[in-house]
Amino acid sequence: MGKAQWLSVALGCVAAVTCVAATALVTRRAVARSRWSRAVAVVRGFEEDCATPTERLQRIVNSLSVEMFAGLASEGASKVRMLLTCVDALPDGSEEGIYYSVDLGGTSFRVMRLELGSGSMVINKKVEHRPIPEDLTKGTSEDLFNLIALALKNFIEREGGDDEGRALGFTFSFPVRQVSISSGSLIRWTKEFSIEEAVGKDVAQCLNEALVRNGLNLQVTALVNNAVGTLAMGHYYDEDTVAAVIIGAGTNASYIERNAAIAKCRGLLTDSDQTVVNVEWGSFRSPQVPLTPFDICSSEAERNHYDQAFEKMISGVYLGEIARLVFQRMAQESDLFGSSVNCLSTPFIFSTPSLAAIREDDSPDLRVVGRVLEEHLKIQDVPLKTRRLVVRICDIVTRRAARLAAAGIVAVLQKIGRDGTLCGTTFVRKIRGEPKRSVVAIEGGLYQGYSIFREYLNEAVDEILGDDIASTVSLRVMEEGSGIGAALLAASYSSTRQNSA
Ligand code: BGC
Repeated sequence: MGKAQWLSVALGCVAAVTCVAATALVTRRAVARSRWSRAVAVVRGFEEDCATPTERLQRIVNSLSVEMFAGLASEGASKVRMLLTCVDALPDGSEEGIYYSVDLGGTSFRVMRLELGSGSMVINKKVEHRPIPEDLTKGTSEDLFNLIALALKNFIEREGGDDEGRALGFTFSFPVRQVSISSGSLIRWTKEFSIEEAVGKDVAQCLNEALVRNGLNLQVTALVNNAVGTLAMGHYYDEDTVAAVIIGAGTNASYIERNAAIAKCRGLLTDSDQTVVNVEWGSFRSPQVPLTPFDICSSEAERNHYDQAFEKMISGVYLGEIARLVFQRMAQESDLFGSSVNCLSTPFIFSTPSLAAIREDDSPDLRVVGRVLEEHLKIQDVPLKTRRLVVRICDIVTRRAARLAAAGIVAVLQKIGRDGTLCGTTFVRKIRGEPKRSVVAIEGGLYQGYSIFREYLNEAVDEILGDDIASTVSLRVMEEGSGIGAALLAASYSSTRQNSA
């Protein structure tokens, strides 16, 4: 072969190799593009499924409000329990003396000592937070209540107070059927608790027995849900407080209802003409509420009538988990997170505080997002483009949750005629005369500690109500409302009302 021929063969080979390399590169890029598009498609689909335009929120308001009417008509007639609380008078600021409270509802509990002077004056407040070891949330009721009673005893001793005959408020943030202000049986556990043997028991009695076992001489005077405690505190400071909402580990609402509107209990109610109702809106569900394949309740909801479907889309125990399920699907559809994605298959490994930290990261290179993914999910070196997608998922979850909670709040206002409509009939947009001022007391870490959630919620309330009516509604944070409210109700309902030191 001559020189020229060798040269042409060599050139041919180089061209072939270059061509193969280029084809491989193009193929790799095409695969990467298609994986990226699949991941983006997962997020787009999720976003569409979570959409809550104003008209949809309005339909949710109407549907929840209808359920609230039904729940007052008869037991079991509605998706919300509308539990009657035996609270027929709320604190008005005249309470005086020293009271204690215990607040149980999440993975920690609080004990509190409250000294009150008349004129809505909290003279002194001491609080102690204690974690509940996870095994005790699934163990026996005796162990759980012993833990609380012992903590209260140590607290009282440390504070140098005395327990002799003091009134105790007990905030128990689970659905309870009350027979008196100081007693009630547990209907079911929610959130992270499941002590089956306690279902049906009088939880105030369980605590009283534990107090005796631990040598304490005080008794539950008021057993209250945290939504009711928060309402009590709101009312203590402002008599225009008509409802309260909890948006924390779980979610719920309570409000003041006219006895005339409570058909299921005619004759059993007290002399007063109103009663506080514990809505238990966590169990609300409706075809109007946007459900996605990533919702924790999506498969169970059909099977279990009271499966806390609404709560599982709104509250702190669940939001991180919804996001994790979306991340996991993205990892299955693409190699977006690389190969080290084992953590993504662990249920509840991604918490709502992590979700909030990601959503609130405003650094240009999304540094916090990278750190959270690395620390909590063991996913390293996530490119900026992917971090942006992660932020978007956290935003979608947050926004839907906040907007659904806003619809819940407006539904309660609608139930008591404070939303500017006549029982939801939108053609009567304005009621004659000046609309009354309405205060809704709010407690819960999600609302208080996550500013973007709060902004989305406030914005949606205004959007649904319209500017005129929205200007008559105030959402007011009640720090420690559930525990303080229980102590206040213990004060209102203690026989002496003179419990001073
Ligand atoms: C419970 C409610 C409680 C709410 C907020 C829900 O899971 O059912 O009773 O008020 O959580 O803590």
